[in-house]
Amino acid sequence: MAIINPKIRDHFTNPRNMGEMENPTVVGRGGDPDGCGDYIELQLLLENERIIDIAARVFGCPYAIATTSVFTELVKGKFLSDALEVDDQDVVDALGGLPEVKKHCSLMGPEAMKRAASEYIFRQITTPCEVGNAKA
Ligand code: FES
Repeated sequence: MAIINPKIRDHFTNPRNMGEMENPTVVGRGGDPDGCGDYIELQLLLENERIIDIAARVFGCPYAIATTSVFTELVKGKFLSDALEVDDQDVVDALGGLPEVKKHCSLMGPEAMKRAASEYIFRQITTPCEVGNAKA
């Protein structure tokens, strides 16, 4: 019988930063809908481009829950640009390794973060500037 790494077990049985946020700044999804079908959603609350709060919803396997949980811990408090540097190997390392067949679970957090950042940047460049609209 395979023994589950205690860090994985801890993040699976006591996942961090799960749930829904009332007013997230931006939301991003990541997953493998054409493969195993698992996916996650990250909700970010940003202040001056720093992640001051994060909430995740996971629709997937125990490893998806554990990898997402540890990913939220790795990026919480970071600037968006630094959070984008956190990759799947960081997730694997933070959990002390993953079984080979479950390594793809570690891709979902970084993917969701990239999508959230893309959405945030898109909004920044498409939001009309207030300065030009200040007519009396
Ligand atoms: S994300 Fe595919 S099995 Fe966990």
